[in-house]
Amino acid sequence: MEIKGKTILITGGTTGIGLEAARQFLSNGAKVIVTGRNQEKLDEVKKLYPALVTIKSDVANADDARSLFDQVKTLGGIDILYNNAGIMSGPSNLGLANAKHFELAKNEMDVNYLGIVNLNNTFIEMLKARKEAAIINTTSTVSYVPLNLAPTYSASKAALRFYTTALRDHLEILGSNVKVFELAPPVVDTNMSANLDRKGITPEKLVNALIVGIRKDQSTIHVGDTRFVYVLHRLFPALTYRLVNPAQNRHKLNT
Ligand SMILES: NC(=O)c1ccc[n+]([C@@H]2O[C@H](COP(=O)([O-])OP(=O)(O)OC[C@H]3O[C@@H](n4cnc5c(N)ncnc54)[C@H](OP(=O)(O)O)[C@@H]3O)[C@@H](O)[C@H]2O)c1
Repeated sequence: MEIKGKTILITGGTTGIGLEAARQFLSNGAKVIVTGRNQEKLDEVKKLYPALVTIKSDVANADDARSLFDQVKTLGGIDILYNNAGIMSGPSNLGLANAKHFELAKNEMDVNYLGIVNLNNTFIEMLKARKEAAIINTTSTVSYVPLNLAPTYSASKAALRFYTTALRDHLEILGSNVKVFELAPPVVDTNMSANLDRKGITPEKLVNALIVGIRKDQSTIHVGDTRFVYVLHRLFPALTYRLVNPAQNRHKLNT
């Protein structure tokens, strides 16, 4: 798929992977719209990259999704919907069997899964009407093997991976022009991974791989360790679980 000349909407484009994606898609000749919940952060990224369009919008809020659609339509529509925004609770918010965990878990599912389903539903007819269009959903290594420090986050990414595969098939059966990409990152050095004590790859490296994958129409874009984890967990699930969840996680869960 060609990127130059396309208009892309990146949810959660004010920090981390989304901000780097905005930078790289702009430099590859795309028009870029980014969202986020915080107006100050949106103003900062607009100052950094004046060509960006910024819209305040919460992925988990259905009214925001409708208003986002209306604003995007006024701007001429989009060719690519890149579902990047995501949240991970913990590890300090753990404790699986309590009300606090339930609230956090509900929010994680709303942002990381249901919000994405809602945005895809909201934008699908707009995308179908374009000559060449795509949805990009962001899963993770933990969609194959759960991280014991982030139980619902892992579950939300597993749900998203299953949904993404089925959505791709469904759209193909309907003869739709909308491609569905799954971006499966390993640990990436951003605010989200700061508490994990794991060295990740840079957002720049991840987004480079995403752009190569899109250009090659590679439906699942495994980056870095993700391919290794994917293959290993099919052969040796218990070993892979221990590799993803080293002894220091047990220590964290005990304190
Ligand atoms: N970092 C990793 O190791 C890693 C690994 C695998 C997958 N991923 C996935 O990659 C994606 C990006 O992660 P990241 O590491 O770049 O995270 P990040 O640095 O925490 O950035 C998250 C972005 O999403 C926005 N956001 C959060 N909740 C939102 C909501 N409800 N509505 C709209 N925007 C929202 C944030 O801005 P506001 O808070 O201002 O709204 C921010 O711009 C996520 O889906 C994450 O699960 C990350």
